[in-house]
Amino acid sequence: MSTLFEVRNLRKNFGGLAVTNDVSIGLAPGDRVALIGPNGAGKTTFVNLVTGNLKPDSGNVFLGNEDITTLRAAERVRRGLIRSFQVTRLFLDMTPEEHVALAILQREGQAGRVVGHYSGRPALMQEVREILHQFGLLELSNIKAQEIAYGQQRLLEIALALALRPKVLLLDEPAAGVPQSETARIEAALKRLPADLAVLMIDHDMDLVFRFAKRVIVLAAGTVIFDGLPKDVIADARVREAYLGNYADAGSVA
Ligand SMILES: Nc1ncnc2c1ncn2[C@@H]1O[C@H](COP(=O)(O)OP(=O)(O)OP(=O)(O)O)[C@@H](O)[C@H]1O
Ligand SMILES: [Mg+2]
Repeated sequence: MSTLFEVRNLRKNFGGLAVTNDVSIGLAPGDRVALIGPNGAGKTTFVNLVTGNLKPDSGNVFLGNEDITTLRAAERVRRGLIRSFQVTRLFLDMTPEEHVALAILQREGQAGRVVGHYSGRPALMQEVREILHQFGLLELSNIKAQEIAYGQQRLLEIALALALRPKVLLLDEPAAGVPQSETARIEAALKRLPADLAVLMIDHDMDLVFRFAKRVIVLAAGTVIFDGLPKDVIADARVREAYLGNYADAGSVA
């Protein structure tokens, strides 16, 4: 399948340490890829670099046929390269309805306008309701984000990413900090993502990773040490040494 998103020879040093060390990765429409690796491997840094939140030292990022390496973060979002954050970034005083409406306005290039006017736009409100419904958040539409459970806050963040109509979605630990009892909802939401969307998800929960991913990329000390099928990752000697030794030895193979 054709490549939609491609990263070539990306490098970033922090104070002499190569945090992103010649990383090359490609995603095609419909991909479900997990990016895994030990704490500090450079996973979040990778997402920061490709989304324009950090400037790489060298290398290139392509979306479709366009080299987007030097574009501002907002311009990448407009082109459909969307991320979520490892730690929640919601406005705790705002409701789910206001968040989704704002995301849609942002997508339409109107986020600078007074948010209060959105409720007078039936088509926009209809879309807001559909998105909230899709994530099981409709009943919470008008409750401040700070008053809803953390698992639902994280669902709202995925909803916001989708409201921006991504072509490529980068999810940085979408289930991080969520109690085990609520992760099933997040997993269900991930299952229902649009089929043609290219998704790269970072997570440490290997059972979730193996249920989600059709392909696994392992990053260790800034370097891609594995890029292949989930069934092969556990057996890989370098991966076992760097990350998954304990998981493999525990016998919980996907
Ligand atoms: N702004 C920064 N300045 C200096 N060093 C940084 C900066 N951001 C990250 N680092 C370092 O880069 C390395 C990679 O960090 P990163 O957050 O990308 O890891 P990660 O794989 O996402 O880890 P985790 O699984 O814990 O989220 C770490 O050693 C971190 O301390
Ligand atoms: Mg991280």
